[in-house]
Amino acid sequence: MDYDKAKENDIELIRKDFPITKKKIYMNCGSFAPTPLSTIKSITDFLVRCSEEGPDSSSVQEYITSLMKELRKILCRLINCEPEEIIFTQSTTEGLNYVASGLEWKKSDIIIARGGLHEHYANYFPWLNVSKKYGVKLEEVKIDKNGFFDLDKIDKIAKNKNSRLITLSHVLYNNGAIMPVEEIGKIAKKHSLLYSIDAAQSVGTINVNVRKIGCDFLAFPGFKWICGPSGIGIFYCKKESAPLLIPKYIGGESAIITEEKKLVYADSPQKFQTGFRNYAGIAGLTSSLRYIQHMGIDTIRKMNMKVANEMIEQLRTIPGISIFVPEDEKLRSSIVSFDTDSVLSKVVVSRLEENKIIVAERDIVGGGKKKAVRASPHFFNTPDEVFTLVQNIKNIQNMFG
Ligand SMILES: Cc1ncc(COP(=O)(O)O)c(C=O)c1O
Repeated sequence: MDYDKAKENDIELIRKDFPITKKKIYMNCGSFAPTPLSTIKSITDFLVRCSEEGPDSSSVQEYITSLMKELRKILCRLINCEPEEIIFTQSTTEGLNYVASGLEWKKSDIIIARGGLHEHYANYFPWLNVSKKYGVKLEEVKIDKNGFFDLDKIDKIAKNKNSRLITLSHVLYNNGAIMPVEEIGKIAKKHSLLYSIDAAQSVGTINVNVRKIGCDFLAFPGFKWICGPSGIGIFYCKKESAPLLIPKYIGGESAIITEEKKLVYADSPQKFQTGFRNYAGIAGLTSSLRYIQHMGIDTIRKMNMKVANEMIEQLRTIPGISIFVPEDEKLRSSIVSFDTDSVLSKVVVSRLEENKIIVAERDIVGGGKKKAVRASPHFFNTPDEVFTLVQNIKNIQNMFG
């Protein structure tokens, strides 16, 4: 299978698993990563099997059960949790909303959120919504230019007896800064606060260990750094914290009905998973995770940082370019954001796409106050591709600057 070859860390073999590498330079994995061929095959095989054996036949249902079991096992190893702490969702946003709309809020509660407008909106709007709906106070912790904040300030707010929950992204979507999630975990524990993490930009690219972090909730998608299909996400919900959440949806599998017509929730994860799931997505995600697991997160991290560091070094040689990433390599992922002083980032992004280089434009200052070009390379990208990207940026500057 191709993921075994990937383990050998042979970039040419890895690139064969990602056909896009023959056609384009794809550096937009912070948004949506391509799937390896083995994942495409797993999804196709699953659908063919459903069609030939019958999707609700006992043989296919047994297969689905075994797939879910395997998927849970791999995920448990990946983030260090228990199988019943894994809930399959559609996306990160859905997982975060399970928390925001699932807790019973009191008006006096305080939510502590890093950055406010500077967070990804998926991890800002749900809390803002709660604060508008229930009158809960949303404490938006101020950040520095790289997105970091004063831990003492958080500790001070956390001390307030009304503080209830702390939330932040693990890795920032715009500049790749890695947040001090373990330190925040200690603060949350010290003051007995709930702790919710948006891990959309971390799982699959850096090590994530929920026990070490000490979080109650953590949400991430299958389709960014894990290279799985779209429409499937994972919500980690600590066993002890699951009773605190009222499920947003309820149906057949998630509850039982008593003789008095009382509804009693099932235990987690069934409590949060009603109705049929995206089983083709589950087949694909399992396959992508096998690929990631065989490569190993440490190898992925090394390969990604080689490309990111090369990019930063080469961009630094171009006059008029500003780079928005933390200086210290240990404090950033492979996301590299930059802009030019002469060409709008949206023009840079569209000109690059014309030349078959895919990156994205994102806010570098929240609320759309300042935008930047965001390159988010993954393990299938190479330093040669960085060279081509940088040459293209120089050409765009010459043409439009
Ligand atoms: C930090 C962060 N959180 C949440 C999301 C939204 O993810 P999803 O589409 O899985 O809901 C993104 C997407 O880019 C993100 O970068």
